[in-house]
Amino acid sequence: MNRPRRPGHTDGDRRPFRHPHPTVRLDTWEKALNSNANHQDGPSDPATGWWTRAVIYQIYPRSFADSNGDGIGDLPGITARLDHLVELGVDAVWLSPFYPSPQADAGYDVADYRDVDPLFGSLADADRLIAEAHARGLRVIVDLVPNHTSSAHEWFTAALAAAPGSPERDRYVFRDGRGPDGAQPPNDWQSVFGGPAWTRVTGPDGRPGQWYLHLFDTGQPDLNWDNPEVRAEFLDVLRFWLDRGVDGFRVDVAHGLIKQADLADWQEPQEILSGQEVDKPRPPMWDQDGVHEIYRDWRRVLDGYPGERILVAEAWVEPAERLARYVRPDEMHQAFNFEYLLAAWTAPAQYAVITRSLEATDAVDAPTTWVLSNHDVVRHASRLGLPVGGRRPNGIGIGDPQPDAALGLRRARAATLLMLALPGSAYLYQGEELGLPEHTTMPDEARQDPTWARSGHTERGRDGCRVPIPWEADAPSYGFGPTDASWLPQPPVWAEHALDRQRDVPGSTYELYRTALRLRRAYRLAEGPLEWLATGDEVLSFRNGALTVLTNFGDAAVPLPAGGELVHASAPLDEDGAVPTDVTVWVRTA
Ligand code: NOJ
Ligand code: CA
Repeated sequence: MNRPRRPGHTDGDRRPFRHPHPTVRLDTWEKALNSNANHQDGPSDPATGWWTRAVIYQIYPRSFADSNGDGIGDLPGITARLDHLVELGVDAVWLSPFYPSPQADAGYDVADYRDVDPLFGSLADADRLIAEAHARGLRVIVDLVPNHTSSAHEWFTAALAAAPGSPERDRYVFRDGRGPDGAQPPNDWQSVFGGPAWTRVTGPDGRPGQWYLHLFDTGQPDLNWDNPEVRAEFLDVLRFWLDRGVDGFRVDVAHGLIKQADLADWQEPQEILSGQEVDKPRPPMWDQDGVHEIYRDWRRVLDGYPGERILVAEAWVEPAERLARYVRPDEMHQAFNFEYLLAAWTAPAQYAVITRSLEATDAVDAPTTWVLSNHDVVRHASRLGLPVGGRRPNGIGIGDPQPDAALGLRRARAATLLMLALPGSAYLYQGEELGLPEHTTMPDEARQDPTWARSGHTERGRDGCRVPIPWEADAPSYGFGPTDASWLPQPPVWAEHALDRQRDVPGSTYELYRTALRLRRAYRLAEGPLEWLATGDEVLSFRNGALTVLTNFGDAAVPLPAGGELVHASAPLDEDGAVPTDVTVWVRTA
């Protein structure tokens, strides 16, 4: 889509991203390619449905756009900025939770699944957002949080008021404690955010009572999915949002709903990602076989609606074969590929994860997905600026080893062009199109992720990737809202990343993404197939349709694939036309 050049964008010298690429030409050849009409509805064939090739953009509502100046992003703010997403060229948005919530975990603690928190607006605002997105050809996916409710949910309030063994308590996982007076937790499980996964409640008589399970924060009691009332409730919640027109659900902690019946002790340290060999015992809280029946029920509900509604699993499950079980034909449509997100920046590691991912999803006839950043991990522009093969930090703060920002951005751009050339569907996280780094020097007093407190101030957590994003370099809160207010502090470097400093600037990260998305559609890259050309220690190269893609992970520049025309590159080539280190190129070879 061509947008008229905006006034006020002529001062290129101050722009940090100005490195025009002399050899990239995006002109007549592109027009000759197949139709690339934006945002058409996919055919209803599940093999070619819209989600199989979609680029889905994650909006973190708190941090996208603030309409009323209270420092917290909101639904009207999102609606007002939808044109940005059309201009960028994505197919759909996924909205992190906006439901009524005490915000103990930034909204992943839901007190009412059928309403909107006044912080973010109203149900009418949600309806307007959905309608305005659809009017622009954008699909809308909302977040569903079925593993736990908020402790402020009316069910949990009722459970606390009721006696042990009551139907109210049976909606959650209440147990007596161990030891003579029940003062020890029922088992040794740890919360993902640190500390024990059990909290003891005070009985109606004022004395210490039972314990309840919370795999996450104390404000997020786990539901008991063996209880039919819980199952019925969520089928109804699905229908509530499907009736409002949403195109699908991203399912939070999809691998956690069913726990091993005996709640057996688990000696291993708790991690959200539980890497497992296929035949090894499952951790008793993750990836239990019983979850799949739930998703089959949900799939039947979605299939009863017109318009290709989808389910997306957030399941930190390895290996890829095990994850693929979530996207069997009668279950979910997609699952996030976190193994890809976590893969080291080396040619062998990237080759291995790409081939494994494609094979595993091919085996169940599901599209492969790709993702590099989200609201739970260090942004990839910073992650890739850390030493390769080092520990993956859970947040970065003052006093921690700092990423190399320039290297990180260079690799992030190369990684993005590699990802967007892969067959399947890709997820983008708000702000990555601006090349935003993690806020790695946020004052600890500003942190809000429960991880920081619950880990005894050893894990800084996820605030650094959740900072409100910059739209205009010279506006208050960088254009996030009409005032200076921002629920997390924005770093000064946000000014140079602001959208208005990058739009129409050749070589900017924003234009890199925009061009990549346009070409991805024009060349039908999402459809594949992928054919490997080079899989060595330093270079990865493959053919996808008419394009040859090459990423140079080595120390020395390598020749551009011969006999083609360079159509996109993550950074300028060498003066002699070679592909430098940490650069991806797209070359038209057919
Ligand atoms: C995964 C979500 O992405 C994360 O932000 C949240 O803290 C946990 N699930 C618990 O809901
Ligand atoms: Ca607001």
